[in-house]
Amino acid sequence: MLGECRIISLPKIADPRGNLSLVESERHIPFRIARVYTIYNVPGGERRGGHAYGTLHEFIISLSGSFDVTLTDGRETRSFSLARAYYGLYVPPMIWRQMENFSTNGVALVLASQHYDEADYFRDYERYCRAALEPAR
Ligand code: TYD
Repeated sequence: MLGECRIISLPKIADPRGNLSLVESERHIPFRIARVYTIYNVPGGERRGGHAYGTLHEFIISLSGSFDVTLTDGRETRSFSLARAYYGLYVPPMIWRQMENFSTNGVALVLASQHYDEADYFRDYERYCRAALEPAR
């Protein structure tokens, strides 16, 4: 499952007036965008996330500054550093993810495949591991 998580490069239209990057739903990312939210003004040392989604896909971009996203599938862990607007991290369902090491002015843009639904969250790591590892037993 962790193997599906990957950095996806986005089109970058370089211009002396300033660069432009874009994401098209179901074209550059493998899902339809239903919701967009931002995470910003994160105090030094704080962490966001610390949960997984049962069915939601997401794509995370750094619009400003930098931060790290740590992913685990209950077995392996991988970390990705996001620092530019012309690429992002695709995270499929059933991956536990945490966002940390936000720089000053770090801004995360999250594109999500579903509207907000608390029932889709796994917020307890033990419960997540039981669900994620169950099929392999
Ligand atoms: P949460 O997803 O737990 O944030 P993070 O993973 O970054 O720590 O959401 C924090 C709070 O915001 C929680 O009370 C739910 C609420 N929320 C919404 O109401 N709608 C949304 O689209 C999101 C992402 C969060």
